[in-house]
Amino acid sequence: GEDGPGGRPKYHLTPPANWLNDPNGLIRWDGRYHVFYQYNPGGPFHNTIHWGHAVSDDLVTWRDEPVALSPSPDGPDRDGCWSGCAVDDDGTPTLLYTGGNGRDQLPCLATTDDPDLRSWEKYEGNPVIESPPADLDVLETEHWRAEFRDHNVWREDGRWHHLVGTGLVDGGGAALLYTGETLTEWTYEGPLLAGGPDAGAVWECPELLDLGDRRLLHVSDYENVVYFLGTVEDGEFVVDSEGVLDHGDFYAPQSLSDSNRGAEDETDTERSLTWGWLPEARDVDAQWDAGWSGALSLPRVIETAPDGDLRQRPADEATDLRTERLADGETVALAPDDQRRLDVSGAAIEIEIEIALDDAEAVEISVFETPDRAEHTPIRYARDGTLSIDRTPSSRDPRAFADAQSMAVPPYDEPLSLRVFLDRSVIEIYANGRHCLTSRVYPTRDDAVGVSARAEGGRAEIASLSAWELGEAMPTDGD
Ligand code: FRU
Repeated sequence: GEDGPGGRPKYHLTPPANWLNDPNGLIRWDGRYHVFYQYNPGGPFHNTIHWGHAVSDDLVTWRDEPVALSPSPDGPDRDGCWSGCAVDDDGTPTLLYTGGNGRDQLPCLATTDDPDLRSWEKYEGNPVIESPPADLDVLETEHWRAEFRDHNVWREDGRWHHLVGTGLVDGGGAALLYTGETLTEWTYEGPLLAGGPDAGAVWECPELLDLGDRRLLHVSDYENVVYFLGTVEDGEFVVDSEGVLDHGDFYAPQSLSDSNRGAEDETDTERSLTWGWLPEARDVDAQWDAGWSGALSLPRVIETAPDGDLRQRPADEATDLRTERLADGETVALAPDDQRRLDVSGAAIEIEIEIALDDAEAVEISVFETPDRAEHTPIRYARDGTLSIDRTPSSRDPRAFADAQSMAVPPYDEPLSLRVFLDRSVIEIYANGRHCLTSRVYPTRDDAVGVSARAEGGRAEIASLSAWELGEAMPTDGD
């Protein structure tokens, strides 16, 4: 059912119905967290995109808010209010988003004086950039005069900085840098980074984050969210290393920089919180039948580790979702090839698990498992240092996608430590506090709530198993 396995997520953010894609305009305002998102109020498909809105005091429970931006029939956003960001312009909350208008996609601005960020006024001089840079060979497609969209704006060295995603005819995906004294007058500086012919054709949703010692640039290339760690020198990104932010169903993330969290909070340091869109992994008919499509990831803290690698973990507030404790650091010995049901179950739970391979080839933890195993989703950790998800047995519904997903989880000579968030149709995995894999699965049976473990070809140990039942992101009266 909808509030059981395979259903609409319980503690991941979703609109009450219809279509959601990218998170947009993330901002902390007046002490509250605001999340906007690409939203079609007309149904669970991508069309006539508005900005939906949700608000939270604590990052755990959310309230659905009225639609914040709608296309203006005669405006430069008549065909859709596509992705963009929110900034604090000297006390005025301001959105810079992509207006779709026929074959054009160009940046538009909206402001508000409403502390609740509900009603927005569009700038009459929209669009604030008339066309992509004239001297640049920007990709033209069947639908678009030029791929030129998604806006990330920040303040640096006394000026506004602004990234736009694009694709270059000979250069692949690129993030273009503009600067300006105001948010309405922009000067093109050049590509901050271009991926080259081997990169994806277009980079969507570029975002530059300041991680203290280094900067992180991430872009969405239609398949993956690719990140680059490095520095910015004279308007160009110098890449030290690169990787993929999440190896599963995770796309077009956006972040908010969260500082001044209150004087009483001793851990008050600047942190960056990142949400991604978790697209569906089932066909459009199934989405139509469900009446909803898309969820947001948990907010993630992204930072660099002392060894220079990237670290990712859910915002500390995620522990406030925990209600009932289901397991408390137990150890479980796994005999070779013995399928063992664990004493943990649920469709909306968090599992913290430490796996020592001992002499086994692999350990498989199955989740969303029916008692007869007709449906189950194995998460397999193998000696070669890969973690993979096999979705073939996940669902009896042929409309659910069954492709496998995997990632490398070095170092694999240590016990592997996993935080696994199960949320009806979401599996969000954090491995060793570094590597993420998010997967969408659609078990059909209400008893697909079991968890089991098996060691392949040798003994292994679950060195520690903890689990919690998790609460509701949007509690309604009576829950
Ligand atoms: C990424 C994206 C953006 C665009 C938006 C439209 O998923 O395609 O490039 O602005 O979604 O909804």
